[in-house]
Amino acid sequence: MTPVVEVRADSAAVGEAVAARIAALIQGNASAVVGVATGSSPGPVYTALARRVADGLDATGVTWFALDEYLGLPLGHPRSYRTELLDNLIHPLGLDPDALWVPDGAAADPDEAARDYESTLAGRRVDVQVLGIGRNGHIGFNEPGTPFTSTTHRVRLTESTRAANARFFTAPQEVPHECLTQGPATIMRARRIELVAFGKHKAAAVARALRGPVSEECPASILQRHRALHVTLDRGAAADLATG
Ligand code: GLP
Repeated sequence: MTPVVEVRADSAAVGEAVAARIAALIQGNASAVVGVATGSSPGPVYTALARRVADGLDATGVTWFALDEYLGLPLGHPRSYRTELLDNLIHPLGLDPDALWVPDGAAADPDEAARDYESTLAGRRVDVQVLGIGRNGHIGFNEPGTPFTSTTHRVRLTESTRAANARFFTAPQEVPHECLTQGPATIMRARRIELVAFGKHKAAAVARALRGPVSEECPASILQRHRALHVTLDRGAAADLATG
């Protein structure tokens, strides 16, 4: 299916557009299941959703599933993705933290935690999955070379991803070396996918993902095979699509 590609003036407008579609989904299905990403890209979506909740949207019946989580950070660590999603999504929307599911990055047996998360997800149908994209085309923490058939699994992060995420930590060496992530096959089961990206530094990855060959070397390229992909970009992130 050809993805819908929408270009908006700035990140706030991207956030509004995506939040409007998620809000409509929740209005039509109070017990919707929403997959949520971390990193900077989804922030404007969550800000716009919080505004809609303040204006009366009832999201109390929604279940939220995180894409990924670092391994080795203790529960409640300020840089864990659980904390990030509580701070940026669950608390601003006034929701119960029990509505949020995150892979257990503090588990004694991470491989078992990955299997548990996958089986929980397999029992639920994700209605819409919000995604960002890494500069090397990663989605979740699925680095280039990840088999498209992978489900939730343990990953050793590349140094480029660790370096890109160092900005969230007080020192680069604090970035964990491993994580748990939904795999491409898990992500592709979502009914709809909302990919968001901002800035010129994402333009090449967006163009590769949407216009390049479908290849495990660019994990996000698998999204070309999704039947309901909506891509919302600012002008910077769309820059390399214009001539493509
Ligand atoms: C991180 C996350 C991804 C995210 C990507 C882009 O490594 N695991 O889920 O989409 O990188 O991050 P950002 O939106 O901050 O550029």
